[in-house]
Amino acid sequence: MKKIEFSKKAKKEFNTIVGRYPEKRAAMLPTLHLAEKEFGCISPEVEVYVGELLTVPAVKVREVVTFYTMFAQQPRGKYHFQICRGISCDLLGCTKIRDYLTEKLTLEVGATSPDSKFTLSEVECLGACETAPMMQVNEDYYGKLSQKSVDKIFRKLK
Ligand code: FES
Repeated sequence: MKKIEFSKKAKKEFNTIVGRYPEKRAAMLPTLHLAEKEFGCISPEVEVYVGELLTVPAVKVREVVTFYTMFAQQPRGKYHFQICRGISCDLLGCTKIRDYLTEKLTLEVGATSPDSKFTLSEVECLGACETAPMMQVNEDYYGKLSQKSVDKIFRKLK
């Protein structure tokens, strides 16, 4: 198994995170988010590394990673499109938006483009129902989607 390590910057961030908790293992979720940002996904090597950092067995890290579906266990594309399929988004046309995205990206839901530029996922309610139909692209939310607004988002990303 390949040995991995946080960059200097990530180590500093990790120390800040751990400092907020009474016990290292309590910092599991923010450490996993940091590791995902740093390494692109939570691979088995990353699970071992996070376990070492938090002084917990790697199997405990694995339990958390597999419980929360938002952690990527395989590398995602540079732009991760997460189309909401919650009830509000469904009622307001998320299926049409999803179909438009699959056509535009030539990707099935759950797939990553061969150039690693795009990943398309469907997710449950993202807590922004008032802007349905909506999606998240990396850290940004986009609401009241139409084919026109999806085209605009693509232009912005290029
Ligand atoms: S149902 Fe889509 S944000 Fe809530």
